[in-house]
Amino acid sequence: MFVAAKDMHYTTSDGREVMDGTAGLWCVNAGHTRPRITEAIQKQVAELDYAPAFQMGHPLAFELANRLVDIAPDAMQHVFFTNSGSESVDTALKIALAYQRVIGQGARTRLIGRERAYHGVNFGGISVGGIVGNRKLYGTLLAGVDHMPHTHLPARNAFTRGVPEHGAELADELERIVALHDASTIAAVIVEPVAGSTGVLIPPRNYLKKLREITKKHGILLIFDEVITGYGRLGTPFGADYFDVVPDIMVTAKGLTNGVIPMGAVFTSAEIHDAFMTGPEHLIELPHGYTYSGNPIAAAAGLATLETYREEGLLTRGAELGPYWQEALHSLRDAPHVIDIRNIGLVGAIELEPIAGEPTKRAFSAFLSAFEKGLLIRTTGDIIALSPPLIIEKAQIDQIVDIVRAALNEAD
Ligand SMILES: Cc1ncc(COP(=O)(O)O)c(C=O)c1O
Repeated sequence: MFVAAKDMHYTTSDGREVMDGTAGLWCVNAGHTRPRITEAIQKQVAELDYAPAFQMGHPLAFELANRLVDIAPDAMQHVFFTNSGSESVDTALKIALAYQRVIGQGARTRLIGRERAYHGVNFGGISVGGIVGNRKLYGTLLAGVDHMPHTHLPARNAFTRGVPEHGAELADELERIVALHDASTIAAVIVEPVAGSTGVLIPPRNYLKKLREITKKHGILLIFDEVITGYGRLGTPFGADYFDVVPDIMVTAKGLTNGVIPMGAVFTSAEIHDAFMTGPEHLIELPHGYTYSGNPIAAAAGLATLETYREEGLLTRGAELGPYWQEALHSLRDAPHVIDIRNIGLVGAIELEPIAGEPTKRAFSAFLSAFEKGLLIRTTGDIIALSPPLIIEKAQIDQIVDIVRAALNEAD
């Protein structure tokens, strides 16, 4: 149980300090209880607590949308506010389907996801997602969804520092799917630039560029789910910047408000936005939105978060610290059970040899042991995923590595 938090650390109910090796759930990018964000929320709740986003508005939502467009890739010109990553994903999928229809491509109803993808827990997200455990209990999900293969190729890419060399040809699987269904039936492809939740799967060099070329060629929208990769995690403002590939729609949440208040933002190109703005004035352009879309307190938290990122250079700090982080993580190569180490920006993964017949047990035992030693890590399957707040100092990186080594020495 955590009862308090400050900067890089939590305090547990029994009074111990635990370093946050995971930025909460990949969201507390500026560290915990940052005064600027706290004060902005306190001020806003006393001034304008709520305003409807249907027909009405309030200035902070527009100010935040403008600030977001300023830091996003040039082509991302408009923002739709939601309250979570899952809502952002479903919003993006709905915008993609509706866009194809309003431009006269109504037969494009298929959505293409990827194996080992995580796109949240709503019906759209689990349909295009690729985690069997999150899908199997919930019936047939959305119709007309297909999946590309994942890009995790340990036999060829294990222990790569940064972006792996092998596997760009996996993007051609999209051509195979197009050949099967015909491009005229496909609305959009959705991928995480780096798949986070299933263990930090970094795309092979040129893979995303190829996906962009293929989608463009066939009139298919490309959606980047940047819920984890957005807001500085890779050492650039967005994953799109890191890989120099601009999607048509970009899905974000988490770091948008530093995890403090639920909020998501879906970015679209001007072309997509404008396609809906044909009037007449009294009709709804896109029948979609949430009671809390653009909530004033969330908008205030978002603005204060972006200001904190700007003041402290956090959206690019991962690039400065990246080389140190990389060498520190890869020093664990000789630790017990380690079969792969991956890193990009301020994200890392240490993959462990599973205990025969008892998958996930070894990583879970490392998780418990690290926690006892004062470090919160995250495990997925037998992979340890690390994504500390972007304010981390080098000495704290050393501490993380020391504790993970000690935990692996003790793990079953
Ligand atoms: C890539 C990605 N998309 C969507 C989500 C879902 O976000 P939320 O839990 O805010 O609904 C997550 C959460 O981890 C994520 O990593």
